[in-house]
Amino acid sequence: MLVFLLFGALVTAVLSESPPVLKQVSQGWNACSLVVCAPAEKGIPGRDGRDGIQGLKGEKGDQGLQGPRGILGPPGKMGPAGPKGSQGNDGSKGDIGEMGPRGIRGLQGPPGNVGPSGAKGGSGPQGEKGVKGEIGLKGAPGPQGPKGNIGAPGPAGAKGSVGEKGAKGDVGTKGLQGPAGPQGPVGKPGSPGSKGDKGSIGDKGTKGDSGLSEVNLLKSKVSALEGQLKALQANFAKYQKVATFPGGRTVGNKVFKTNGYEGNFEDLKQKCVQAGGQLATPRNAAENDAVQKVAALYNKSAFLGITDLKTKGTFKYLNDQPITYSNWLQGEPNNNQGNENCVEIFTNGKWNDRACGEKRLLLCEF
Ligand code: GLC
Ligand code: CA
Repeated sequence: MLVFLLFGALVTAVLSESPPVLKQVSQGWNACSLVVCAPAEKGIPGRDGRDGIQGLKGEKGDQGLQGPRGILGPPGKMGPAGPKGSQGNDGSKGDIGEMGPRGIRGLQGPPGNVGPSGAKGGSGPQGEKGVKGEIGLKGAPGPQGPKGNIGAPGPAGAKGSVGEKGAKGDVGTKGLQGPAGPQGPVGKPGSPGSKGDKGSIGDKGTKGDSGLSEVNLLKSKVSALEGQLKALQANFAKYQKVATFPGGRTVGNKVFKTNGYEGNFEDLKQKCVQAGGQLATPRNAAENDAVQKVAALYNKSAFLGITDLKTKGTFKYLNDQPITYSNWLQGEPNNNQGNENCVEIFTNGKWNDRACGEKRLLLCEF
């Protein structure tokens, strides 16, 4: 408004023939600044500078629009704060500004020539609308956008390591009975049954052969058996030698044998039984001779299977039968010191009663 007023004054000055003298009263002022006009020679009687009024200040611009919503935050449990909103659009035209301050009153012009009294002038036209107000300040950044949505679940983690073996489970319920197994192998033949009753007499048979062929058949069988018997005898003789070498003698079906061991009566008796025989018990001169030879082979006296442990004074075999043969040394048995209940055979074949606790050669019979 002030500008227009000044401009109006300037035009007026030009029209009044007298070029105005513009002075810039203060550095920095522009055309809209205060102008002091030199006195016109014939100025139209003007009004004082109070006529013009300053135009209204332009409307205040509208507040800028709210900034756009922040972009969606990144996925995550706790989404980070949304990014700062982008700059808002320019604000719309501001509101009409408040009326500006009243202009400074102009200096009083010089007195003009006295003119006729003019009619009183009407009120000056209202000043033009002021220039549009300056663009409003940029709107403040919009508020922080809302928290982003929870992101999609992350990919499945790597397979975990195998856990420790669990505890043994409870015993399961008993299963159903399985199918019958395959048939077992054929059993062994049973033992022969008892002899049956004698059958009734059969029918008369047909006439038989002369019998010669059967005799011949038996002869050949006997011959074969004789051959086998000979072979067995040869083998038996061989094993007799083996059994009596060394320390053994055979008499008839008896075999006397020592292994060189020595012990008391009970010990020796037990050893012979364990071996399947018994202590040597010569029942005749031939057997006594065989036993003597075995003892002589080791040059040691041996205990016989004869004692009077149960029947003092009466020597018996181990089967409790009284002895039927003896070969006592002269003066024996004397039960020396009343403690001689066993019988030893010297290497010369003679017998002597002797204490059973003594150690003698082991000599068994089989
Ligand atoms: C003497 C006796 C004999 C006895 C032995 C051990 O040799 O003549 O009878 O058994 O001593 O006492
Ligand atoms: Ca004696």
